[in-house]
Amino acid sequence: MSRTRSISLTVNGLPRHAVVEARTTLVDLLREQFRLTGTHVGCEHGVCGACTVLLDSEPVRGCLMLAVQAEGARVETVESLAPDPDHLNPLQAELVRHHGVQCGFCIGGILMSLAASLRQNPHPTEAETRDILAAHLCRCTGYQGMVDAVRALSQSRNPVDAHKPEEAGNRPGVHDQAGLRAGAGAHDPTGSHDQPGSSDPVSSCDPAGAKDLAGARDPVSSRDQAASRGPAEAPAAEPTS
Ligand code: FES
Ligand code: FES
Repeated sequence: MSRTRSISLTVNGLPRHAVVEARTTLVDLLREQFRLTGTHVGCEHGVCGACTVLLDSEPVRGCLMLAVQAEGARVETVESLAPDPDHLNPLQAELVRHHGVQCGFCIGGILMSLAASLRQNPHPTEAETRDILAAHLCRCTGYQGMVDAVRALSQSRNPVDAHKPEEAGNRPGVHDQAGLRAGAGAHDPTGSHDQPGSSDPVSSCDPAGAKDLAGARDPVSSRDQAASRGPAEAPAAEPTS
């Protein structure tokens, strides 16, 4: 019996087809076949949230779902948020403005969870925002900047527009954050994310995220995550699927 399956799905609005092994996870399909490397892989067992994408508008852990289970589904990744290579969307821009992004390893998944939530609830309370963030582990930011970004977005405009672009030239210093459009961090002084051959923005800014290096299978262990989180600062992580 063949161990491969032919599947069809919609990814970021485009019809896509692939032949995958039955064991291939959704996140591996997205990263390795479709080269959508803004969706990251950390724990690979549903805890960290880095692999979160939207499946028919609902956040799912791409590491826990098989690619074949996405047959016929509509998948959205972080690459779908920015409208073009020269703009961030307002949610991304607020995260940059409020220092809600550092290395960027977590941010692709966090952006997708926040985007899905803001579609349902354009004006979340701080507690509701923290509840969303509790499904994600971030080693860098302390989360407060993310909370501030969502609050600012909620207060400054209708966050239903979170998927629409900032006006060109409206936010100096934001539009050059090319890495964030692809789920990378805000602090990349080299701009190497856009360099030819740099297909994975994480590997250029976070050595611990270099999953694709030969022999590196689990660059961010759950032990690392637990040790790096301050219990007083991090929201209570509640892994969700
Ligand atoms: S890589 Fe999927 S939850 Fe961590
Ligand atoms: S910015 Fe969240 S893990 Fe670095």
